[in-house]
Amino acid sequence: MTFDVNVIRAQFPILSEKVHGKDLVFLDSAASAQKPAAVIDSMVETMRTQYANVHRGLHWMSERATEACEAARSRVASFLNAPAREEIIFTRNTTEAINLVATSYGSLLKPGQAVVISEMEHHANLVPWQMLRDRAGIELRVAPVTDDGELDFEALGRLLEDGRVALVAVTHMSNVLGGLVDVRRVADMAHAAGARILVDGSQAIVHRKVDVQETGADFYVFTGHKLYGPSGVGVLWAHREILESMPPYQGGGDMISTVSFEKSTWAQVPYKFEAGTPAIVEIIGLGAAIDWVESVGFDAITAHEKVLTDHALKVLPEVPGLRLIGRPADKGGVFSFVMDDVHPHDMATLLDRNGIAIRAGQHCAEPLIRRLGLTATARASFAAYTTREEIDLLAGTLVRIRDMLV
Ligand code: ALA
Repeated sequence: MTFDVNVIRAQFPILSEKVHGKDLVFLDSAASAQKPAAVIDSMVETMRTQYANVHRGLHWMSERATEACEAARSRVASFLNAPAREEIIFTRNTTEAINLVATSYGSLLKPGQAVVISEMEHHANLVPWQMLRDRAGIELRVAPVTDDGELDFEALGRLLEDGRVALVAVTHMSNVLGGLVDVRRVADMAHAAGARILVDGSQAIVHRKVDVQETGADFYVFTGHKLYGPSGVGVLWAHREILESMPPYQGGGDMISTVSFEKSTWAQVPYKFEAGTPAIVEIIGLGAAIDWVESVGFDAITAHEKVLTDHALKVLPEVPGLRLIGRPADKGGVFSFVMDDVHPHDMATLLDRNGIAIRAGQHCAEPLIRRLGLTATARASFAAYTTREEIDLLAGTLVRIRDMLV
C-alpha cells in the first residue's frame, strides 16, 4: 500500500475537531497518540455485542470475550516476534509493567547487587528502581548521557565492570530527545557482565519495528495508548523461564491455581501475573491498534517519520532564538526545544490558542532536564498522521509568538 497521509488522517475522527476555532494540530503524540476508527469501533463493538468477564464464564458471551482477549495476546506476541504467546503479560501501562519487574524480579536480587539505569530514563524507569534500592539494599547506578543526548557506552561499560550488576534498565527511545538507543549493544554488554536487561519500549514501539529477540532484551515493556490503542493496557514481555522464576506481583482472582486459608498456589504464566479482571475492552482495542499499525506497515511509518524529522530539523532551527535540545544520531519524531526569553509553558499556552497541541515541562524526566542545564523544554512529537504543513505551522506560529513577546 502506498502511504498517503491524508488517507491516514481520514481514519482519525478527532483530527477534524476544532480547537479555539482552529483546526487541531496535534503534536503531542509522544504523550498519547490519537485513535483510528478501527480501534474505536472494535471497542464499541465489543461492548455492544460480545462483552462479559473473561476466563471465568461457561457461557457464550464469556467464551467470545475470552477468545477475543486471547487473540489479542497472540497478536501482541507475533507483533513483537516473541517466542511464545504465554510470555505476554497484560498490565495497566508501562509503569505497571516496570513496577511488576522491580517488585517481583527485584525480590530475587540480593543486597549488594546493583541495577543500572541511564540518565535519560522516564520516571517510570527510575522511581520503581529507587524504591527497590530503598527496601532491599540494592545499589542504583546511573549511566550518563553525552552532551548530544546519547547513552555514554564507555561509562556504561565501567559501571558493569565489577560484576555486581544484576539488571540494566534502559529506554529504547528517549521521550525527551527522540534518540534511539542501540539496545542490542546494551544487551550484549549486560549479558557479558552477567546482567539481564529490561528495555522500556514506550516510545520506540511506535516508531520502529521491534523484534524482541533481535533486541537481545530479557524484559521488554510498552504501553497501548502511545501505539494508537486505548489507555489502561500495557504489555510486559519476558522469557518464559524468567517469568516462571518470579513470584506473583499482585494476589487475587485469576492468578491462582488453588486457594485455601492456609495456602494458595499460582496459575501458570501469563495468568500468574494477571490478578483480577483485566482491561477486557482495552486489550481487544490494543489488538485492533496493532492490526491497524501493521496494515499501514512499519516501512511506511518509518519513511514518513524520516521525512517529518528531516523537515523539522530544517525549519525549527530557522525560528529566531529557538534551540533544539540534543543531537542524537538516530532520531525519531520527538523534538525538544527552548526559545530565548520565552518560557516553554508560555509557548505551549500560546500555541494552544492557535489549535496547536504540544507538551511543555520536564516530560517525566526531571534528572535529564537538569543534566541538560534546563528547567523545562517545549516538546513537539509526531505520529503517522502528522504532516509537513503542521510542522511549518508550528514554526510559523513560534515566530509570531516570539515577535509578540520579545
Ligand atoms: N511519557 C509520556 C510523555 O513523554 C507521558 O509525555
